[in-house]
Amino acid sequence: MERFGKPIKNQFILSDLLTYMNHGSYGVVARPVHEAKLRKQMLHETSPDEWFRRCYRKDYIANVDEASRFLGAKPENAVLIQNATTGINAVLKSVKFTDKDAILVTSWTYNPVKNIVDWVSEHTGASIVYVDLRVPIKDKQEVIDKYRKVIREHSNIKLAIIDIIVSVPPVYMPFLELCTLCQENNILVILDGAHSPGQIPVHLDQWTAEFYVGKYYVIGNAGNLHKWVYSSRGCALLYVKPDHQSYLDPPVISVHYKADDIRLRFCYQGTDDKTVFCVVKDAIQFYEDLGGLEVIKCYNNTLITEAAALLVDRWNTSELDIPRDMVAPCMRMVKLPAMRQFVAVKEVHGDRQTLFGDMNELTFTLMDRFKLVVLCLFFQGELYVRISANVYNNLDDYRRLAEAVLQLKAEGDTLE
Ligand SMILES: Cc1ncc(COP(=O)(O)O)c(C=O)c1O
Repeated sequence: MERFGKPIKNQFILSDLLTYMNHGSYGVVARPVHEAKLRKQMLHETSPDEWFRRCYRKDYIANVDEASRFLGAKPENAVLIQNATTGINAVLKSVKFTDKDAILVTSWTYNPVKNIVDWVSEHTGASIVYVDLRVPIKDKQEVIDKYRKVIREHSNIKLAIIDIIVSVPPVYMPFLELCTLCQENNILVILDGAHSPGQIPVHLDQWTAEFYVGKYYVIGNAGNLHKWVYSSRGCALLYVKPDHQSYLDPPVISVHYKADDIRLRFCYQGTDDKTVFCVVKDAIQFYEDLGGLEVIKCYNNTLITEAAALLVDRWNTSELDIPRDMVAPCMRMVKLPAMRQFVAVKEVHGDRQTLFGDMNELTFTLMDRFKLVVLCLFFQGELYVRISANVYNNLDDYRRLAEAVLQLKAEGDTLE
């Protein structure tokens, strides 16, 4: 795709000095979206009363409608919220748990989400049950079987948090099969869709059985728009199934706390700059003008596949050992060669089985010395780099990464 790569980089507010290969962490805003937000901010600041009293609510609802269309939801079932973390907080804290209940997570549940589960557990007495996920994975069935075994052993699981795409390692989970398994066992589900909008096809009403004969017990899905849809940060669509909306509390109780319409309940949580919610339409327009999911995913997926192969070849290492249909479309993890100056610190988080230290020093060295932005981490006892691909990247970006790491390795080899 000739118009992607370098030619399109100026459409994003990224420093020219940086080679950015970490779209997966915070997303990157598109320039026209950022400019639209600045225009909204001018309106807001030049006449605050006009903005808050006349414009904002209408604008918020129009943008919820557009994001809902984009993600296959009826607009009355969705709200715009700052990010996936806030969305999951809202739903999980609204569900009533007792000390007889359990909440199901995995060793790969995003750590802040796991912290929300810890908080709910501490405040309600509900216990936490883990599915221990590790690589290598032979096939999807292996993951489903692990869930099935844990569910059989714990008949008190009330709710499961299921990732659609895990952050570390970047794995595309068999989430619909897992939702079916939960439904068969009367377990409610919150989908952590932080990485799904813009990376995979999203059909929120279908996933929650709005239009399906078979009934999933998915009660909510939190999907970031600021990651893969190029929206301003922070912005996510939180979807809540109609029969679970009555008890849903917004994270901050404010003026429309008791409103029947959840869009109203969530649109105003105290006074602040809400313009990010009003430029979602611009982000979706930008995304669709680029060609939409098929075109963007095709470019990113081809590039990330070539990039990972290039790194494996230059470093003589390997990728994560997972089946093809579980590979995240636009992110990969590749094993790093040993570098004597960067020794990983092992960490064990509570009773989690996964060893998951971080490699901040290497991440910052690559950023400061080489202007390369990636995420280096320690996973299951080995050093890895997580890379992302997006439309502003090309293969040269990853070539630079390959050579920088080889240079650091050579420097390490000279150390006593
Ligand atoms: C799997 C997963 N869940 C939740 C989140 C939280 O997203 P946010 O920080 O935008 O709330 C992330 C962020 O990277 C994530 O990767």
